[in-house]
Amino acid sequence: MITFEAVSKTYRDGTTAVSELDLVLPSDQVSVLVGPSGCGKTTTLQMINRMIEPTAGSISWDGTPLPQIRRTTLRRQMGYVIQSGGLFPHRTVLDNICTVPTLLGWSRARSRSRALELLSLVGLDRSLAQRFPAQLSGGQQQRVGVARALAADPVLLLMDEPFSAVDPVVRADLQELVKGLQRELGKTIVMITHDIDEAMIMGDQVVIMRVGGRIAQMGTPDEILDRPLDDFVAGFVGRDRGYRALTFAPAAGLPVARIRSVRSAASVATGSSPAVVVDGEGRPLGWADAAHGSTLLPLGATFAAETDTLRAVVDAALSSPVGLAVAVQSSGRLAGVVSAADALEAVRRRRLQVAERHGSAVAAAPDDGDAPSADPATLHEEAGPPADPAAPRQEVGHPPTPSPDRRTTPPPDGAAPAGPADDEREAAS
Ligand SMILES: Nc1ncnc2c1ncn2[C@@H]1O[C@H](COP(=O)(O)OP(=O)(O)O)[C@@H](O)[C@H]1O
Ligand SMILES: [Mg+2]
Repeated sequence: MITFEAVSKTYRDGTTAVSELDLVLPSDQVSVLVGPSGCGKTTTLQMINRMIEPTAGSISWDGTPLPQIRRTTLRRQMGYVIQSGGLFPHRTVLDNICTVPTLLGWSRARSRSRALELLSLVGLDRSLAQRFPAQLSGGQQQRVGVARALAADPVLLLMDEPFSAVDPVVRADLQELVKGLQRELGKTIVMITHDIDEAMIMGDQVVIMRVGGRIAQMGTPDEILDRPLDDFVAGFVGRDRGYRALTFAPAAGLPVARIRSVRSAASVATGSSPAVVVDGEGRPLGWADAAHGSTLLPLGATFAAETDTLRAVVDAALSSPVGLAVAVQSSGRLAGVVSAADALEAVRRRRLQVAERHGSAVAAAPDDGDAPSADPATLHEEAGPPADPAAPRQEVGHPPTPSPDRRTTPPPDGAAPAGPADDEREAAS
């Protein structure tokens, strides 16, 4: 655990980058510092490994003030990752990864075997070991940067905008990689980004900073999305925060209804309801609807019935040509559908839960959905139990009473026992 107490940093030219910062960065978690350019994120991060010394206040690591820990010890125990990996261009991938072990005096053989092990860990082929950074893609360079930071098995990883130079797809892979490593290796990670979406995806704890190195709000991603403390935070987390907050509500437990599946769009009879067209493996391909003849309508987005979030369900429903979100099993087979109405009902229940969690301020607000936000000063006192314990309280994952148009609900393991395969036979006969 890293603790900042009233930490300030004023540079020699008089710029105050960080001002009276109080901050706790818990062990074995990912803390993300996010904020506009120049708000003091890098300064804050570099005070943790003593690349920069504060001008006032104190920082401690598990209770020990940083000045009592030797810089070399700190650097060994704190891996550091920067944009594009910050690799040495004239050293091979292998030598880059071996940087810290070499400084520590490890034997060549030990360093080398550690480097090869790390290449696999970050998902790179060992054949890349002798390449130079310029011979790698941006994403590969970034993976090498992560491998290099992990070389001496540090306790803590400091990452300064590590993924800002790569495209969104590679970025998502790298985010997944780091989250996976964190889960597997149990590292404490402090990461900087200027991208609020990345902060919300990566952070167990998110710290939103404003210029001058002051904290605007600190909390879990869903706390911040659900209850931004002021206009600055609300503006920073963006207009679609209600939608993004659904990222933290699981889809598992939503009522997945059965739907008829067919092998070809042409086999849907006039007057019948829409059916999902599947391939030989039962994987959905698109929609068939008699009104559109034999045209295969686009499938829209699908969601994984057991692992995805409410956001994915709503997205799937909104992108479906027939207003039904298509659920798939982990094998990719069709699991069933969730109607847009049921998805929105789950959203409504989640809003209610959040309101209960935050007490009466939200629960008592007029239900035109446009209630002014509550006075930030009162929020802290309201984090207790729901204001009205007798009020009905439904878990997001709890299926509501089935609506009449739902034919059956598959068991919670997501299997649709009498599902696609049977229907397929039915449709084919
Ligand atoms: N070495 C320095 N000397 C003077 N000012 C600096 C120095 N490093 C950073 N700053 C200033 O401190 C503020 C915070 O910088 P920084 O911590 O790099 O912000 P961020 O990483 O959030 O973009 C900025 O105004 C920046 O210009
Ligand atoms: Mg910076």
